[in-house]
Amino acid sequence: MSERLDAWLSHRGFGTRSEVRLLVRAGRVRVAGAVCRDQGHHVAGAVAVDGVEVVDGPSAATLLLHKPLGHACSHDPREAPLVEELVGAPWAALPLESAGRLDRDTSGLLVLTTDGQLIHSLTNPRRHVSKRYRVAYRGRLSAHAIERCARGLRLEGDDAATLPAVLEIHGEDTDGLGRCTLHLREGRYHQVRRMIAELGGEVVRLHRDRIGALVLPGELAPGGLREAEPDEVAALFREVGDVEFPG
Ligand code: URA
Repeated sequence: MSERLDAWLSHRGFGTRSEVRLLVRAGRVRVAGAVCRDQGHHVAGAVAVDGVEVVDGPSAATLLLHKPLGHACSHDPREAPLVEELVGAPWAALPLESAGRLDRDTSGLLVLTTDGQLIHSLTNPRRHVSKRYRVAYRGRLSAHAIERCARGLRLEGDDAATLPAVLEIHGEDTDGLGRCTLHLREGRYHQVRRMIAELGGEVVRLHRDRIGALVLPGELAPGGLREAEPDEVAALFREVGDVEFPG
C-alpha cells in the first residue's frame, strides 16, 4: 500500500507530520513532476523537495542491535548517547522504536522496529516471550534463590509478585563476582537488578543474549546492527525448550 505524502516525507527525515505539511502547502513538493499541495495524496512516482529528488529508502524495518553499554533507549536528547544514534543509512530517518527496553548499563540483544504490532506482541506479558539475561553480581544469593524465583518475588513498589522465573547459579568466577543466568517472561522496570537485589546480590554486569529462540547474532559486535530475517522475527516468539518455566 502506498503511503500518504506527509507520512512518506516524515519517514524520510523531512520533519514531523506538521512540519512536512507546511512544506507541502508551500508548494515545495512535487510528485511525479507536478506540484502537490495535498498532504494526504498517496505517493506514486518520484518525489522532489525544492527541486531535488528524494532518494527513496525503506519505509519500514525490523533491526537486530547489539546494544552497547552506555546508550539509552530513549528519544530524549538530554539522555544522550541514545540507541537511535547507532542507526545509520538507510534506516536513520525511520520512526524506529525498541521492542522493550534495556537499561543504559545493560548490553545485548535489542529489537528496533517500525512495526507497532511486533512491539505490542513482544512486550505483551500475556505472550510470555522469554528473555535470557547473563548476570555478574557481587554478594551472595540467598539459600532458596532458585525456588523463590520459581515461585515469584515480591519487589518493592510492585502490586503483584513477579511471574515464575528460572534462575541458574553458576558460582564465582576468577574476578570474584558471582555468575548466574536469569530467564524472565516479563519486562518490569530494572527487573533483573531488582530481583538480584531482593535475593541478596548486586548486579555489576548485565547482558541479554536471547529473546524467545533468537540468540544475539555472533557477528554483531557491540553497536552493530542489521535487518532481521523473517525467520529470526518468528524465532522471537518460539521457545527453545532448554528451560522449563514453572507454573
Ligand atoms: N532488567 C534490568 O534490570 N535491566 C535491563 O536492562 C533489563 C532487564
